[in-house]
Amino acid sequence: MIIMVGSLKGSPGATTVSLALADRWPVSGGNPLVVEADPAGGDIAARFALASGRGMVSLAAAGRRGDQPPQDLDEHVQELPGGLEVLCTPAGAEQARQVVTELASGVWTLLQAAARAQGRPLIVDCGRLDPLSPTGSLVRAADVLLLVMRPRDDELSQLAARMAVVQGWGLPAWHVLVVEGPGRAESHRVREISRVLGSRVLGPVPYDTGAADVLAGRRRTRAGIGRTRLGRTVAGIADALVATVPVEAAPPAPQVRRELPPLPPDPVWPQAGSPTWTEAS
Ligand SMILES: Nc1ncnc2c1ncn2[C@@H]1O[C@H](COP(=O)(O)OP(=O)(O)O)[C@@H](O)[C@H]1O
Ligand SMILES: [Mg+2]
Repeated sequence: MIIMVGSLKGSPGATTVSLALADRWPVSGGNPLVVEADPAGGDIAARFALASGRGMVSLAAAGRRGDQPPQDLDEHVQELPGGLEVLCTPAGAEQARQVVTELASGVWTLLQAAARAQGRPLIVDCGRLDPLSPTGSLVRAADVLLLVMRPRDDELSQLAARMAVVQGWGLPAWHVLVVEGPGRAESHRVREISRVLGSRVLGPVPYDTGAADVLAGRRRTRAGIGRTRLGRTVAGIADALVATVPVEAAPPAPQVRRELPPLPPDPVWPQAGSPTWTEAS
């Protein structure tokens, strides 16, 4: 199972959601591996003081050497406090972009085969899904894409402008995962988004600095995030994903484009007070 997590713009919490999902993944869904594939540069290694050369960098090197899966995935994986396993990306955008490009153009097959052999779901943090991102072919291999966004007008207009593009990727499933901000002012926006997009919307993931700090390596706690608001919400989302996504889905090679469905009409996204909302379907 491949869960892609990305954003359209800004920094709404994609990395936090990726780690939270892996942390709260139900045992019945397998032992998830978080793949940080953000071409703008990774954050996990710096946040948890990990070796940035072990992960996507070493995996890309293995790909160049022509190593075969699955025996050597463990060489590239690092463990966070609490046991989460990650493949991290270096912080600098230049190097990150290079290794993510290598991932998308072949190493992915190695990784996917290794994960499948071990029955592990991949939770892939792709960062921002802009049109020039090298993650494009990876995203099309997803069983489900989670578009993480804050319920703000600027991010909503990004979603409205790109909804047809996302639909055109022809994914088996994709959802908008709303992450709340600190203020109450955004809560009516969350309700409006849910009214327009219905079951496509997941969350909202609460604003929860305590849990976010744990997931960003700023705070250590023996209890983890399991009992936090964020942890409980994400646990529900993880359960729903495991229940609805076929575990043995066999995605095509990333280079192969799926047959695209007809493009839907552009969604009409609200200006404040506008009643004219429709989801492209
Ligand atoms: N639900 C949340 N509640 C509180 N803070 C959050 C939440 N999600 C993310 N953050 C914080 O926001 C910042 C950006 O989050 P991050 O996950 O790195 O975003 P992205 O990966 O989209 O750039 C981090 O400092 C993170 O701890
Ligand atoms: Mg990130």
